[in-house]
Amino acid sequence: MKPPYLDPNQPVNRRVEDLLSRMTIEEKIGQMCQYSGVTSKIEQMIREGKVGALLNVYGAAEVNRVQRIAVEESRLGIPLLFGLDVLHGYKTIFPIPLGLASTWDPEVVKRAASISAAEASSDGIKWTFAPMVDIARDPRWGRIAEGAGEDPYLGSVMARALVEGFQGPDLSNLSSLLACPKHYVAYGGAEGGRDYNTVDISERTLREIYLPPFKAAVKAGAGTIMSAFNDLNGIPASANPYTLKIILREEWGFKGFVVSDWNAIGELINHGIAGDIYEAAEKALKAGVDMDMQGDVYQRALLHLVKEGRVSEDLIDESVRRILEIKFKLGLFERPYADPERASQVIKREEHIRAALEVARKSIVLLKNEGNLLPLSKDLKTVAVVGPLSDDKEAPLGPWSCLGNPNDVVTVLEGVKRKISDKTRVLYAEGCDVVGGSREDFEEAVRLAEESDVAIVVVGESREMSGEAASRAYLDLPGLQEDLLKAVHATGTPIVMVLMNGRPLSISWAAEHIPSIIEAWFPGIQAGNAIADVIFGDYNPGGKIPVTFPRTVGQVPIYYNHKSTGRPPSPENKWTSKYIDVSYTPLFPFGHGLSYTRFEYSGLYISPQEVVKDQDIRITFRLKNVGDREGDEVAQLYVRDVVASVTRPVKELKGFRRVTLKPGEEKSVEFKLTLEDISFLNHELKRIVEPGEFKIMIGSSSEDIRLTGSFMVREYVEFPWK
Ligand code: NOJ
Repeated sequence: MKPPYLDPNQPVNRRVEDLLSRMTIEEKIGQMCQYSGVTSKIEQMIREGKVGALLNVYGAAEVNRVQRIAVEESRLGIPLLFGLDVLHGYKTIFPIPLGLASTWDPEVVKRAASISAAEASSDGIKWTFAPMVDIARDPRWGRIAEGAGEDPYLGSVMARALVEGFQGPDLSNLSSLLACPKHYVAYGGAEGGRDYNTVDISERTLREIYLPPFKAAVKAGAGTIMSAFNDLNGIPASANPYTLKIILREEWGFKGFVVSDWNAIGELINHGIAGDIYEAAEKALKAGVDMDMQGDVYQRALLHLVKEGRVSEDLIDESVRRILEIKFKLGLFERPYADPERASQVIKREEHIRAALEVARKSIVLLKNEGNLLPLSKDLKTVAVVGPLSDDKEAPLGPWSCLGNPNDVVTVLEGVKRKISDKTRVLYAEGCDVVGGSREDFEEAVRLAEESDVAIVVVGESREMSGEAASRAYLDLPGLQEDLLKAVHATGTPIVMVLMNGRPLSISWAAEHIPSIIEAWFPGIQAGNAIADVIFGDYNPGGKIPVTFPRTVGQVPIYYNHKSTGRPPSPENKWTSKYIDVSYTPLFPFGHGLSYTRFEYSGLYISPQEVVKDQDIRITFRLKNVGDREGDEVAQLYVRDVVASVTRPVKELKGFRRVTLKPGEEKSVEFKLTLEDISFLNHELKRIVEPGEFKIMIGSSSEDIRLTGSFMVREYVEFPWK
């Protein structure tokens, strides 16, 4: 007879307990260890039941081969969990997460995640190290590319959409992919924007800025969480019982398991809170880290710690239970293998490629369009496509390109050629490299621009310049790209500048001199088609930037939801909070993005005007397309608590909606605010709402406010949670 743990008709907890009761301590510890790649040594460990999960092993055939060792050759046949960084696509690559956030459209983001999940899981990957939900207010930090930008509300909406998209309604579905929100927590607050650096922030900032997207991801049902590399206020995040136990498990009720980031347990020694691997393992486990990614520390240390009585077997059991529970829920015991046939049908199917195009279009932000240079006509006589990223097949995949293949990428040059009439001549010159210092090819680029009606100049960062371990101290266009831009500009030919990059760049010169600027981020495999659709007007751009663009790196950190200060900046008064050598305002504010049409906001209605306990606040207004093209507007709702017992941000995003309107069409937009939405943490870190005035601002960006109003809260409210 089959043991209960192999019987799918038994409830999960029964199966977990049955299996646990049959495991040796070595096998239990094995479940808590994850390794990257397979070697013959790892294969032997799998046979001995000493490995619970792998990463960076992919492809149905290879996954099945390795899985067979676990299932058929290990004593208990516990299947391995295969993980991979599937952030914005598996083989069908979508825009980088910062681009996904620029859509301000959680439905399409969810769809991108569910397509990624379908592709990865068909190929044997059942676990993604995503979404990356770190808030980043410092664009020097390269990992800003992997997340949703600077705002906790937008970040939370995106976190939820991505978790729901990856995991689907039920983990046991064939196409679901277990999510792992990361990097818990405050990793994006690295001092100086330098990756892996120290984070020292107030508890208020932790709770109001960095935690909300994690909380949203947990509420959306994320099955795992990754503990981060960074030191947080003196306690590294991978050994931090306050964040891992009290907040994550006790306050939020998280039931899944926690995996460390890559060797983050071993690095506790470098942090200087552990003298050796034993102390590191003990601290991480006791803080609540269930699985050791690649560090080999749990493998080497835990048995010894149990034997010495420093760690109880009960504690080990707790972690193993959580890991096994997820494996049962994923259906791994029933379906440990991938079906290569199915994988070949699912991966890169046509509708996935179409979705990649749709999402890429939606992610594009029109930063500037002076004199309505854009959209261009398709019947121009000659167009020059210039710049090092014009025909680059790698960059559009972005820093976490997973298994994206450069050959699948449509470049801007290709996209433009496909789009334009056959009578138009398309000239192309690289001009210079992304980095490096030769001006040799400037001349050619200038000559072609001179011959052309318009020059499309594609500049930005190479894919290695953002992402992990890619912090920058300068935020300008790298290399000689700005000089190239200046040289082309000097010809007098109108320029459309297309940016591909993983972070906001300080492009002050361009913002002043170049009439049209498109922010495309790294748009994925459909890059060139999406960008050409925007340039030639087949798609009217509607994306908005999810992060502030500074004028210069010296303004960093600069973000829209800052405090007022006692001396808010004023151009007339020297003795206010600003700089003497650069403006205090951003180059492009959070939420900014233009369209080829215009929108009018009217009829703001707030009800009730006087809010008493438990009442929700309804905010409605009308949005009209007053131009002559169909277009999307992202209407944004900001709130300010005018007087409170602690200082509050000058505005906070509390709602948004991306609305599509035909020319002349008008729609009513409604937002609902609960009292919790406008609550804050008081001096004792209690979540409260204080009586008084709340200002409502509705606009097209955080600066372009079109409607204002207010309501009054009449009673004090206290919530039982933080
Ligand atoms: C380290 C990175 O910080 C993390 O984001 C990633 O998931 C792991 N490596 C695994 O690749």
